[in-house]
Amino acid sequence: MSTADSPVTVPPFAVISGAQVQQALQGRHRQITELVEATYRRHSAGDSVNPPSYFLRFGDRPSARIIALPASIGGPSRVDGLKWISSFPQNVAAGLPRASAVLILNDHDTGYPFACLESSIISATRTAALAASAADWLSRGRPRPVRVGFVGTGLIARYIHTFLAGTGWSFGEIGVHDLSAGSAAGFRGYLEQSGAAGSIRVFDRAEQLIRSSDLVVFATIAGEPHVSDLSWFSHNPVVLHVSLRDLAPEILLASANFVDDVEHCLKADTSPHLAEQLTGSRDFLAGTLEDVMAGRVSVPADRPVVFSPFGLGVLDLAVGKYVYDEVARAGELHVIEDFFHELRRYG
Ligand SMILES: NC(=O)c1ccc[n+]([C@@H]2O[C@H](COP(=O)([O-])OP(=O)(O)OC[C@H]3O[C@@H](n4cnc5c(N)ncnc54)[C@H](O)[C@@H]3O)[C@@H](O)[C@H]2O)c1
Repeated sequence: MSTADSPVTVPPFAVISGAQVQQALQGRHRQITELVEATYRRHSAGDSVNPPSYFLRFGDRPSARIIALPASIGGPSRVDGLKWISSFPQNVAAGLPRASAVLILNDHDTGYPFACLESSIISATRTAALAASAADWLSRGRPRPVRVGFVGTGLIARYIHTFLAGTGWSFGEIGVHDLSAGSAAGFRGYLEQSGAAGSIRVFDRAEQLIRSSDLVVFATIAGEPHVSDLSWFSHNPVVLHVSLRDLAPEILLASANFVDDVEHCLKADTSPHLAEQLTGSRDFLAGTLEDVMAGRVSVPADRPVVFSPFGLGVLDLAVGKYVYDEVARAGELHVIEDFFHELRRYG
């Protein structure tokens, strides 16, 4: 990487393992949430490039996909890059995580990739950090939720709970619901081990959990809506609809809807996309989370509030660059010598 007074050179190429990523992020929930929020605001102000995610799908493996999220962030820690993340839901039955990912960081001046990071942790981290931030912003005009419920209790639910707890939330009751009894039991075990305050209750049905929660987190792998009864939401909860496809459009049409980015979220058969198709308009959107942060839009307390975040590559980049800087500062970069080898134009 070059500075104004040094010559342009090929940056060393480093590989950063999941263990290093986890160590760099350990216990930094507030700091990372602030970083993610600041990056999200920067994106909303137009100081980023974040084209639509590209979904690679396969005829022979219809439930699987690999998504490419290229992005570029401006500002002082400017960086370009790409997250390449696989979702193979059938991995879970074989004891492997559903998602696996790498993040490539590219040098601003030369375009050279300078790092490849394990990125399932980074992806879960940025998702959970923005979810925790949304829970805070969207519940400011109402009594702070004390009963949280998780529908779908895999890795993302665990990270969201960790980030809620790590940014100051504590709950009197934690509800757990999953189609898989094993996942519900595993999540319960995690909650007990984490020392989470409050009683833990496993619900057999989503209805009971939703009716019993002021803050509802959807982190399933549902491909189409499975919740359509508006009466389950009559107590007007705040809903973090992280898995994006759980709620029937009718639920959204009766709620105050917030997204992270309108153009990104109204795609790929998300519930907001279905609501747009059903009504032929985007009027059902109250705004973006950034509209709320900036005070342009207020959050009603007399309706359910639904946040549907599509997930932005700029957030992965910001967290990935943070990790890279931490590992570099500790002098622990594993540089691959001679990674770029054919560097003389004529040999
Ligand atoms: N919006 C974002 O930015 C973002 C980022 C990362 C992940 N995600 C999404 O989060 C979701 C969860 O990811 P994960 O890695 O935790 O997956 P996972 O496979 O580890 O866990 C998902 C859990 O949901 C359960 N489930 C599936 N359908 C259900 C239903 N109808 N009701 C209740 N439980 C159900 C499964 O049994 C499983 O335990 C995925 O859909 C993923 O795409 C969103």
